[in-house]
Amino acid sequence: MTDDAPAASRAPQTAAPYADALLAQSRRDTVNLMVPGHGATPDGLSADLARFCGEHALAMDIPPLIDGIDVGPDSPFEEATRLAAEAWGARRTWFLANGASQANRMATLAVAGLHTGDTVIAQRSAHSSFTDGVILGDLLPRFVTPSIDGARGINHGVDPHALDEALTRAARDGAAVSAVYVISPSYFGAVADVAALAEVAHRHGAPLVVDGAWGSHFGFHPGLPESPTRLGADLVVSSTHKLGGSLTQSAMLHLGEGPFADALEPLLDRTYMLTQTTSASALLLGSLDIARRALVQGREPIGETLATVEELRQTLRTDGRYPIISDGFSAFPDIVAHDPLRVSIDVTATGLSGHRIREILAGEHGVHLEISTAHAIVAFIGPGKRPDLARFARALFTIADRAEPAGAESTLVFPPLPQPGPMTIRPRTAYFSPHEIVPAAEAVGRISADSLAAYPPGIPNVIPGERITAETVAFLQTVAASPIGYVRGSLDPALARFRVVAREP
Ligand SMILES: Cc1ncc(COP(=O)(O)O)c(C=O)c1O
Repeated sequence: MTDDAPAASRAPQTAAPYADALLAQSRRDTVNLMVPGHGATPDGLSADLARFCGEHALAMDIPPLIDGIDVGPDSPFEEATRLAAEAWGARRTWFLANGASQANRMATLAVAGLHTGDTVIAQRSAHSSFTDGVILGDLLPRFVTPSIDGARGINHGVDPHALDEALTRAARDGAAVSAVYVISPSYFGAVADVAALAEVAHRHGAPLVVDGAWGSHFGFHPGLPESPTRLGADLVVSSTHKLGGSLTQSAMLHLGEGPFADALEPLLDRTYMLTQTTSASALLLGSLDIARRALVQGREPIGETLATVEELRQTLRTDGRYPIISDGFSAFPDIVAHDPLRVSIDVTATGLSGHRIREILAGEHGVHLEISTAHAIVAFIGPGKRPDLARFARALFTIADRAEPAGAESTLVFPPLPQPGPMTIRPRTAYFSPHEIVPAAEAVGRISADSLAAYPPGIPNVIPGERITAETVAFLQTVAASPIGYVRGSLDPALARFRVVAREP
């Protein structure tokens, strides 16, 4: 630890100091002559708002910088962040009000600030907020392709050998690498070998950033994978609101106790200032404190959830029409575990696409799923929750009984992913250069100003600075024309036009 590092937390994990301070404040008899304008009461013009979100929520919706709540290093707020760091095995944790997207921007800007090189080795299937960080920090990405389940149009993670090769190649090319960036778990619950990836990154002198947006519940039960911070990751992006149990938009960034912690910590304090609103919602941040305590204390309910989710998997296996995708994970070298709270289901045998099944489940059965693809649906079950999974299974069987296996939707396959065009100018330069919009045929050979990713499998096919190739245009248009695909970031649904750099340097 550095000399000015915060002290270890004094409160026990059974406490929720910041949330409790907010609750206490909401019960005080106060006259609020400050923002927010609703004054924390349902009076007057705030009556509708109180009906909308409840008087209790209004009473706790207080601004930052209140003595006894979040002012000073010993405040309940700072204590809550220390408890979170301890719970996830981190040196420091930052509470964020703009999702894991903010955490990705903070992480990329911080590694840019290391000044150890402008190259970042990244999993090609990174979230768009990583690309935003690359643009903001003027980094130069070199990509490692994750393993791909071609039959289902799903991408997984990065294998440590592939990372080693990418880092060795970068060194041979004289590229100075400031960080390695991977995603684990994947949308489909595939967990990468974070310990081995950290070892490889560190051996090449680079910190490992793990986008663990979908894994904030990891480490809180022996039946769940370990928290990446405890496996040697230097930075862990956590979308705590996804499966950690906090309110939507609340998130965390964890700094691991690794060889880069001393250098990264002050940089993260600065990138936090750069990206966090000065009016972060007390409700959002307080929910992080509550979620942490619930996860720490939730071993028994989490165990019950794990058992009921396994029962669902068993029911589906016995029926046989809905294979469980994680049952085949051992075929992929990068996958060392799976998230048991995520049930990824292959729907090919029904003849319907995953999108159509998701629609039917919501419209006819009131069952709402997180993700669908052409060939799959994915159900998430929150830790410690016990939704009616028997109803979900019954709905799936009803759909399969009615469906026509000969139906063609789920057997549609896309052409293989084209190789990205060469990165010709830096992403930041491309993003901020004057651009023009041209018809698809004229876009071939030009430098893209946009990021475009075809779903499935959601791997960016073009990022700003890369040349657009004829193969990429054809691929994107094929996916866009399919009833089961779409292209994120496109100017129009048919991919008839592209945004390109106007004057090439
Ligand atoms: C891998 C990954 N990282 C980061 C994010 C951004 O998370 P948030 O929505 O909390 O900003 C997402 C969002 O889905 C994601 O899938």
